[in-house]
Amino acid sequence: EDQMRGTSLSFGARDKAKKYQEQEKEYNLVLEDEIEFIKSLPLAGTRKKKKKKKKDSDSESSSSSEEEEEEDEQPKLTATQKKLSIDEVRRSLPVFPFREALLNAINEHQIMIIEGETGSGKTTQIPQYLYDAGYCSDGKKIGCTQPRRVAAMSVAARVSEEMGKKLGNEVGYSIRFEDCTNDRTRIKYMTDGMLLREFLMDPSLDGYSVMIIDEAHERTLHTDILFGLLKDITRFRSDLKLLISSATLDSAKFSDFFDEAPIFRIPGRRYPVHIYYTRSPEANYIDAASVTILQIHITQHLGDILVFLTGQEEIEACQEILTERLRALGSKIRELIILPIYANLPSEMQAKIFEPTPPGARKVILATNIAETSLTIDGIKYVIDPGYAKQNYFNARSGMESLIVVPISRASANQRAGRAGRVGPGKCFRLYTQWAFENEMDENTIPEIQRVNLGNVVLQLKSLGIHDLINFDYLDPPPAEALILALEQLYALKALNHKGELTSTGRKMAELPVDPMMSRMILAADQYKVVEEILTIAAMLSVNGSIFYRPKDKAIHADTARKNFFHPDGDHLTLMNVYNEWVGTDYSSQWCYEVFIQYRSMKRARDIRDQLVGLMDRVEVQVTSNPGDSVNIRKAITAGYFYHVARFSKGGMYKTAKKSKTVMIHPQSCMIEDLPRWVVYHELVMTTKEYMRNVVVIDGKWLLEVAPHYYRDNEVHDATSKKMPKVKGKAKEELQKEYNKL
Ligand code: CDP
Ligand code: MG
Repeated sequence: EDQMRGTSLSFGARDKAKKYQEQEKEYNLVLEDEIEFIKSLPLAGTRKKKKKKKKDSDSESSSSSEEEEEEDEQPKLTATQKKLSIDEVRRSLPVFPFREALLNAINEHQIMIIEGETGSGKTTQIPQYLYDAGYCSDGKKIGCTQPRRVAAMSVAARVSEEMGKKLGNEVGYSIRFEDCTNDRTRIKYMTDGMLLREFLMDPSLDGYSVMIIDEAHERTLHTDILFGLLKDITRFRSDLKLLISSATLDSAKFSDFFDEAPIFRIPGRRYPVHIYYTRSPEANYIDAASVTILQIHITQHLGDILVFLTGQEEIEACQEILTERLRALGSKIRELIILPIYANLPSEMQAKIFEPTPPGARKVILATNIAETSLTIDGIKYVIDPGYAKQNYFNARSGMESLIVVPISRASANQRAGRAGRVGPGKCFRLYTQWAFENEMDENTIPEIQRVNLGNVVLQLKSLGIHDLINFDYLDPPPAEALILALEQLYALKALNHKGELTSTGRKMAELPVDPMMSRMILAADQYKVVEEILTIAAMLSVNGSIFYRPKDKAIHADTARKNFFHPDGDHLTLMNVYNEWVGTDYSSQWCYEVFIQYRSMKRARDIRDQLVGLMDRVEVQVTSNPGDSVNIRKAITAGYFYHVARFSKGGMYKTAKKSKTVMIHPQSCMIEDLPRWVVYHELVMTTKEYMRNVVVIDGKWLLEVAPHYYRDNEVHDATSKKMPKVKGKAKEELQKEYNKL
């Protein structure tokens, strides 16, 4: 049956494929339906709720009859609800019947594209099939890349459990600053960024017999670069199998790129999903989401809810609103379990979303984009889609990179809706209008390579000996101006010489797993003899998620505690203070608790710092220390971040050097009341305004010392010696308001 059809391998019975198509049509049809949105339903007084109320007052044991009723309504119970053994779950996955066919096809073809609906078992099963088929018998590994850290960790945990092995032995994962593998590791999940780093050590990936580029449709920058590198390797490593695995319909494009590699399609199970739109745009989608959750909970049959939000802050805000409203409703309604999932959530908490929902209860999962395709959560019947995601945007003309919330694409919206139709027919509530879907959203998400800063990747490609970046084999090429800007920046950072060749500084920078500005800062610290201090600062800045903890009910206490750490020279030194005091308490968690510091963030900073310290030998940097030398610490920071300079302009506003863009100091900064004339900022964030987050005070003249090739005398000269205005009175109140909003 395994015959080729064009570039497509066809497997299984024909009627299966036909059925799949029909389902797809139905799904599309529903999409176009004119429907009314659930928000118009009254919160109280629905039949369902009355019934429930009555039961509650009747007796506690009444839930069993209701459960049965619910079971009828749910056409199919999910595997977890049926409490199947791990083996049964594995056999129930859509990929399972194709095991042999898949292995045969892999045996025959060096490169293959594997396409299958999310949740069909591509990520967790295929590496195990390969392992069992002997692909690791000669001590080689099976690699599988993931665009997201959380996915790499959670999938590795799941697979080690399925194989009955301890995580970190046969099955492990590797993400930036965290290597959970050992000599015995044969199945290795890793972020795509980590595989790119591995190329530096092992340019032909000799340690691997199979490499799976998973979630290829996500088109992250690193994945896109890996495509080109791997395509090249397969030409001389005929023993290396390359699998490109993807959820949606980009397969033909991947096949074209990889010299007409065959496509293996795993027929999915997809049930119709009914789409609802709002009648008018929602002003506050977090609020709208929480209302919709409650309405589903009160009026709809059992089945879990998945909500897509843009990040940790939104998830926490939504969780808070929801908890409050649930409390107000009291015991009138059945149990609703709220579970968040985002990248920085501790892994014990992440595991919770996979636990089966107790009978009679409902789970609502508040997730970032990670749940769009990377993680499959069983039992989802309702999806709430506000239509936004956080994306990195780099403006090559202004040289500015910022993380902003943008509308998702139609492809993304459909992918999200599809999450409701995995176990049975589902419903998706879009918190935007049908008009917006059709007219305001882009067809597809723009691949990352076309919208982010390329500095890091250019440096890595250069250190792999790839010089001609314009003619590199890209699936979609980056904009030429972004490439040129990256080259210019690397030249200014002294990573490249005027011929565009890697310098010895550049080679060292590429060794450090941080972006070029940060690695330049670390190397500059060597010269200023403040390496310990700069590594602390680098580690604290690399922790994603907040260091300071500010619970609403103890906001004043938290603010006071935070102010005690403030350093007059800026946030970087404030962060250093926090770290050093923590070290002084012998890494105490109790201390963190008392001074409103996130213990988890501190532990992570410590891990990162340890790793960076461990790399100093390789880059020939002596770990010097001089904690009191604020000037040299700030000069080292400036040497890395001289692109991120802003100068006071007026009315609390700053203008960035060179490009003169108007920005402000972030209200959370320690410099907010005592504005400095010159600052170096760590990053720009776009919220209500364009804010500089984490600023350090500098002297404009230092720019001539640390970046004489970039700044001219007249650009750093202060024409006025006027004292900087103090922020007080009304302006200060305004600031406090802004701060409380964040
Ligand atoms: O990669 P693909 O989307 O095709 O599927 P998968 O991630 O391999 O998921 C297959 C099954 O494993 C799903 O039913 C998931 O719910 C389950 N799974 C899990 O229980 N725990 C995880 N950490 C990951 C997956
Ligand atoms: Mg997957």
